[in-house]
Amino acid sequence: MSYAYQIKTKREYNEAYKKSIEDPEAYWEEVAASFIWKKKWEKVLEWNFTAPDIKWFKEAKLNITENCLDRHIEANGDNPAIIWEPNNPDEKHRVITYRQLHKEVMQFANVLKHNGVQKGDRVCIYMGMVPELAVAVLACARIGAIHSVIFGGFSAQSIADRLQDAQASFIVTCDGSYRGNKVIPLKPVIDDALAQCDTVKKVIVLNRTHTPVSMIKGRDVWWEDEMKKAELSGNLQCNAEEMDAEDPLFILYTSGSTGKPKGVVHTCAGYMVYTAYSFVNVFQYTLGDVHFCTADIGWITGHSYILYGPLCAGATSLMFEGIPTWPDAGRFWDIVDKHQVNILYTAPTAIRSLMGFGISPIEGHQLTSLKVLGTVGEPINEEAWHWYNENIGKGRCPIVDTWWQTETGGILISNMAGITPAKPAHATLPLPGVQPVLVDEHGNEITGNNVNGNLCIKHPWPSILRTTYGNHERCRTNYFATYPNLYFTGDGCYRDNDGNYRITGRVDDVLNVSGHRIGTAEIENAINMHTGVIESAVVGYPHDIKGQGIYAYVVCSNIHGDETEMRGDITQTVTRIIGAIAKPDKIQLVNGLPKTRSGKIMRRVLRKIAEGETSNFGDTSTLLDPGIVEEIKNGKI
Ligand code: PRX
Repeated sequence: MSYAYQIKTKREYNEAYKKSIEDPEAYWEEVAASFIWKKKWEKVLEWNFTAPDIKWFKEAKLNITENCLDRHIEANGDNPAIIWEPNNPDEKHRVITYRQLHKEVMQFANVLKHNGVQKGDRVCIYMGMVPELAVAVLACARIGAIHSVIFGGFSAQSIADRLQDAQASFIVTCDGSYRGNKVIPLKPVIDDALAQCDTVKKVIVLNRTHTPVSMIKGRDVWWEDEMKKAELSGNLQCNAEEMDAEDPLFILYTSGSTGKPKGVVHTCAGYMVYTAYSFVNVFQYTLGDVHFCTADIGWITGHSYILYGPLCAGATSLMFEGIPTWPDAGRFWDIVDKHQVNILYTAPTAIRSLMGFGISPIEGHQLTSLKVLGTVGEPINEEAWHWYNENIGKGRCPIVDTWWQTETGGILISNMAGITPAKPAHATLPLPGVQPVLVDEHGNEITGNNVNGNLCIKHPWPSILRTTYGNHERCRTNYFATYPNLYFTGDGCYRDNDGNYRITGRVDDVLNVSGHRIGTAEIENAINMHTGVIESAVVGYPHDIKGQGIYAYVVCSNIHGDETEMRGDITQTVTRIIGAIAKPDKIQLVNGLPKTRSGKIMRRVLRKIAEGETSNFGDTSTLLDPGIVEEIKNGKI
């Protein structure tokens, strides 16, 4: 399989970009011709950013799994679709060919149907990084059920909130998952979530860790038993449901600046076309290459660049269950050599954490199979970029710094490996079809180079979010209302003299901790649930490994035990309400927060204190009690 839409030279990039801006519909129509459709579109694009109302490939019919699986069977059925590397290197890895994956997906799709799942139903998937997670996701897509994968680190409360928001009636989970030397319980967390949620009719449980779990009669069934039943029924086929181009494919929850996560909705056709297109072009994928994206499928990176993008392209995608530092900090490099990985796509936080172990864990590894390196999720600092380039890429692998978001579905700004030049710490240039603009706070476009502004996108690309589940108005106000006729990313950005883009970080109250997005309001809500807490304010501060750390200022009414105990209780509360990923790194107990006379917390001051600044807090004259700033500063931890 070669890719008609693959850009192979800088000149081709320039031409493609020009064409995609001058005539976006013609450009994407040509790209879309490389996919399998049950019925072609009547119109390539219909859109307005006011509603917003965006329709790509209007009236087309398709099923994404026919593009991910069926189409590869004849020519490439025996090629590995997924190489699965378990957490424990002593356990045998698995190689799943396209033929096998196709069979398993159809079998599990039949299991879903037997258990009552119908087109349009929401299925929540809460599993570790096992191949069955990929099977579950694709089986949903096969029958037109809308999957909503929840990262294994979220708490019962977070799951319950998401289940309710999505009105999900089915769950697929595991008894537990392995991460490093830990066994993480999953089914017990689901049980806790279900105590507050009565929409769920069936829970399908995969046995992975042999952890004892309570299986509720009539509700809970074992994956293995159901798969056996499906096999014995003799019906091994499951036809791909005919989906409309704009039918929802999945919901993925992500944090914003309000306290409640939003269910970002992606639809079938545009998402398929753009993830495959961006995968092939950014990484310059060649058939046979082994692509290792280290993300978890619980995040958008895993959806787009472990599953849908690579599988649509007939690629071999490596899926890793474990963590980079167990059994030792050479685990990634062992995997690269063992499976002859050609493309490695990871997060700056992982690179920085591995840098901390020095180069000895790399020694003894060849790393000669590597051709392309990538980063995603947060700005990469130059030091980490050079370390990655020199020690992992040995100076011969292009590094793609890929900027995108849950809402964008796929990579929007990035260099293309070996085609367009890299620049350390810069995402560089937009992909064809992507029109970035920088605006000032009044929404005026900032033209020219060597300028800073808020990053917006002018014209829809195929995998732009369509709505936020159950609340379209929220989608409008969050992304399309700040600046008229523009999609607002929430990121600050610099454009250099050559037109390269460099993302400078969020401009809203959203933190990026270890490449994961988390809203400060969400953490504050969780802290405020503790009985001894009156109020709190959360800000980010620079953290050597995580990029940003979480700093919480908390006002307590009464402190049980000593302050350390109180901090422990607060941490525990956040873990229970959101999950361990939102645990504050620092908690400072304070007597009050710096508030203006109208009651607004002056976060700017709190951010400066958390960053270690001791003066230059700007204008604090509107504060109700300016003395509190000094007090907080003196108590900084
Ligand atoms: O701030 C940007 C940062 O991550 C945010 C999106 O987070 P999320 O939806 O969780 O998706 C992460 C994976 C795509 C963005 O608003 N971000 C993502 N990639 C980069 C980045 N910041 C700088 N450089 C990047 N390459």
